[in-house]
Amino acid sequence: MESASLYDRIGGEETLRILTDRFYDQVFEHELIARLFKSDKDEIKEKQRLFLTQFLGGPALYSEVHGHPRLRARHLPHAIGEEDAIAWLTCMDRAISTLDIADDLKKELFARFPQSAMFMVNS
Ligand code: HEM
Repeated sequence: MESASLYDRIGGEETLRILTDRFYDQVFEHELIARLFKSDKDEIKEKQRLFLTQFLGGPALYSEVHGHPRLRARHLPHAIGEEDAIAWLTCMDRAISTLDIADDLKKELFARFPQSAMFMVNS
């Protein structure tokens, strides 16, 4: 039997709405990386929720609406250094820590991000 996706195990849509909400509240307040975010906060929260849904093994919602993610290419217009990636990960870690899920799930969830974040470094 196939095991449930991480998306399902963390609580699916409801958890991802809370996570993206708290994550971008952190990001938009962060002294180093807030400057990078120029779009509407609710819009980027929603894009990220759709993306994380598929990234964590749920339905491919982001691709249905926005096409292939091509995330590294989509980040190229933004100058992202290693310090920015670390700040992004810190915001994600803080947002994850507030979720009402088991500690081992929090660890498993956070572990999905460092490699992708470093992949976005482009300057
Ligand atoms: C390494 C640190 C990162 C920085 C500094 C960063 C920064 C940004 C910025 C500035 C935008 C555009 C926001 C806007 O429209 O105003 C963006 C979009 C986005 N980022 Fe990141 N990002 C990072 C890592 C990641 C990672 C690791 C993921 C996924 C796991 C991700 C997923 C997305 C998505 C899905 C979008 C929306 C793309 C679109 O459809 O336009 N980002 N990011």
